[in-house]
Amino acid sequence: METEKILKWHNEHAWQPFTQMKLAGDPLIVERAQGVYLYTNDGRAIIDAIGSWWVNIHGHARAELVEAAASQLGKLEHVMYAAFTHEPAVLLSRKLAGLTGMALPRVFFSDNGSTAVEVALKMAFQYFHNQGRKGKTEILTLAGGYHGDTAGTMSVGGRLEFHKLYEPFLFPVTTIPCPQISYKDLQNPECHPELYRNALAQAGEIIAARHERSAALILEPILQGAAGMVMHAPYFLRELRKLCTEFDILLIADEVFTGFGRTGSMFACEKAGIWPDLLCLSKALTGGFFPLAATLATEQIYQAFYSDNRMHTFFHGHSMTANPVGCAIALRSLELLEKMDTTLKNLELGHREGLLRVEEALADHIVETRQCGTVAAVELREQHAYSGDFAPRMIQASLGRGVSLRPLGNVVYLTPPYIINPGELERVYDVLVDSIREVIQEK
Ligand SMILES: Cc1ncc(COP(=O)(O)O)c(C=O)c1O
Repeated sequence: METEKILKWHNEHAWQPFTQMKLAGDPLIVERAQGVYLYTNDGRAIIDAIGSWWVNIHGHARAELVEAAASQLGKLEHVMYAAFTHEPAVLLSRKLAGLTGMALPRVFFSDNGSTAVEVALKMAFQYFHNQGRKGKTEILTLAGGYHGDTAGTMSVGGRLEFHKLYEPFLFPVTTIPCPQISYKDLQNPECHPELYRNALAQAGEIIAARHERSAALILEPILQGAAGMVMHAPYFLRELRKLCTEFDILLIADEVFTGFGRTGSMFACEKAGIWPDLLCLSKALTGGFFPLAATLATEQIYQAFYSDNRMHTFFHGHSMTANPVGCAIALRSLELLEKMDTTLKNLELGHREGLLRVEEALADHIVETRQCGTVAAVELREQHAYSGDFAPRMIQASLGRGVSLRPLGNVVYLTPPYIINPGELERVYDVLVDSIREVIQEK
């Protein structure tokens, strides 16, 4: 199809997410992708430095994943996941449960990060309801979290700029403070008890006061993505886990972003040596190849639904739940991931070197640089709102140099596919520095 016609029809019919269509300008038309590169129909090769919204970890068109999808499609493309099951779903459930050391042996599939979280919230609520503890209906949340864009997930998320307007439409939650400590202090575990003392005291008070009404605490463990790659110490997570256990509140870990190696370990919770009661997974579950999500639960939670009483059923489901193609790809993706220890370490090292260069080059403009496993972030001094024009200008400036970046407010971050090579990563850092300079100087 000619470019003109694609753009005409795009302008006549498309309505893209998080996009002010009037101001956005024409999108680039991606024809194909391979490895870290997106190839556009005007002959450009663009490095996907944010892994297509944090989903792609093995590179685009990865042969093993293409093969897993194709061979599954030829056998069974889909069947409803009630009264029927299939091998890919059983194998993947077993695999995911195993990754938690069977701490969370029950797997409920859905389609995306938001549904994984909605499922966890409903499970937490009904877990207590099924036991006759009907007063435990409220949700506690950690300040600054992002859990998706559906009504329930917006309710439990931090009221980020773009979610505020929906406030009358959302259910009330109680927020536990999450202190933002500097990256430098994060590197020194000895000072964490002191730095988190006040926040934990407040958390303790809130939980003690509300536990009879509260079903769960939801949080993004260790690394809050959409908040601007904000990090907190494993110590803080461990202490919150203890409070939840003490007051019989379920802990929901939203690892939609942090799962599958993102923070350097398979799951971020492992960094704190804890398991939640409910674990939400999506994004990199299929290496970014297919929409699939899973909510993992403890046996104790499952047993509260396992009953002769049909009203104890978990009343939730989606048409494409446990799609066999998605499950087959996820299995192959996990096989690849388990062999990637050195690749992850090399990427972590590459980020460390890259961030040092950023600090030298942009010293006057940055608050700090941060890194957590495969994620790197540069926080700029100048404040930029989500809805401001800094992000669109950065996107254009970096695309013009052959790299796809997408800042979160005043935080420019990198979440490339793990297989990015040192030369490509170096190029990404050059473009990041040049683009920030260009956008700042233009003002
Ligand atoms: C931590 C977290 N939870 C949930 C979601 C929502 O996932 P999805 O966009 O697949 O609905 C996201 C998306 O960025 C996320 O980062």
